[in-house]
Amino acid sequence: RKNILKIAIDSPAAAGAGTQAKLIGKHYNLLVLDTGRCYRYVANIKITEPTKFNYKYIKKKIDKLKMKDLQNKKLSSDKVATVASIIAKDKKIRKLVHAFQVECAYNPPKKYDGSCLDGRDCGSVVVKDANIKFYITASLKVRANRRYKELKVKNKKITYKEVLKSIRKRDKSDKNRKISPLKKTKEMYFINCSYLSISTCFMKIKKI
Ligand code: C5P
Repeated sequence: RKNILKIAIDSPAAAGAGTQAKLIGKHYNLLVLDTGRCYRYVANIKITEPTKFNYKYIKKKIDKLKMKDLQNKKLSSDKVATVASIIAKDKKIRKLVHAFQVECAYNPPKKYDGSCLDGRDCGSVVVKDANIKFYITASLKVRANRRYKELKVKNKKITYKEVLKSIRKRDKSDKNRKISPLKKTKEMYFINCSYLSISTCFMKIKKI
């Protein structure tokens, strides 16, 4: 579709970009895609159907992928996140996932006025020509604490230390991998939301 608004947010794990993307989507009537869910979806195939896990099968699954499949609560676990960051290093898997993400960004359903994608490589790779790009981050401790509180509700056994360790490991892998690493490019507006409330951060975004 031509003349639609495209917003891209790049961010490390648990920085709050997903929350902001949802607010942006609601305010500007945009289709919102948390691109990490796509990698989590593929990771979940690896966990639940290990014998079927090959490129052909993944392609078939992604060709049929619907937004509601990404809402599956199972995809939120720390285990799925860890496997996601491993399979996300695979060039062929990224290519398959990108095809779905590009379709969402450039061809959202007619009822929307555009799209807002968030993840590691949205502004740097998937939606290079986005109208506006943000890089949203927060300190490792703040991010680990936020994610710990979220995960604790579902899994009482999880500890803060485990979450911190897992996020640190993913940061390292996501920033240092060869393909589509997380990086801030010069046209991205940088927002550190370590000490910003959700609404203050959103106000900053709206001003920009
Ligand atoms: O954002 P989320 O924590 O759900 O992402 C899970 C993993 O998927 C990340 O750690 C990262 O390795 C991968 N990912 C990616 N590119 C994106 C979004 C997520 O490689 N655009």
